[in-house]
Amino acid sequence: MTRFTVNGQPIEYRLDPETPLLWALRDASNLTGTKYGCGTGQCGACTVHVDGRAVRSCQIPIRRLEGSFVTTIEALSPDRSHPIQQAWVAESVPQCGFCQPGMIMAAAALLEQSAAPTDAEIDAAITNICPCGTFPRVREAIRRAGR
Ligand code: FES
Repeated sequence: MTRFTVNGQPIEYRLDPETPLLWALRDASNLTGTKYGCGTGQCGACTVHVDGRAVRSCQIPIRRLEGSFVTTIEALSPDRSHPIQQAWVAESVPQCGFCQPGMIMAAAALLEQSAAPTDAEIDAAITNICPCGTFPRVREAIRRAGR
């Protein structure tokens, strides 16, 4: 049994301790806003926050999360009023939308570290892949949220 907090709720997962966090969230907790893209840590579609830091949930076995605090896109802001979510709408960022929850979680973590990140900081922090090519609008939305 592995215990950690997800979106403010303490949860005991009776899963194989090697289960990636991504699948604990999606399959056991029905938090399907966190997406499966590559499963190899490359694309960032599965990005969530663990203790306030952006992580790729497909790469973290739940045994490493005992006592941690996990936040998914569902709880970033229940009414979608987080500044990064508002900026996302204002800049019309998404195209197909599949990678966007992970993108938003990465951007929100960056803004916690740097209220007005430089382009270099954005490029270093947002390594998520968007096959639709929304990255220019992602960068603009992060700038807007930081103003
Ligand atoms: Fe985790 Fe691609 S699904 S990085």
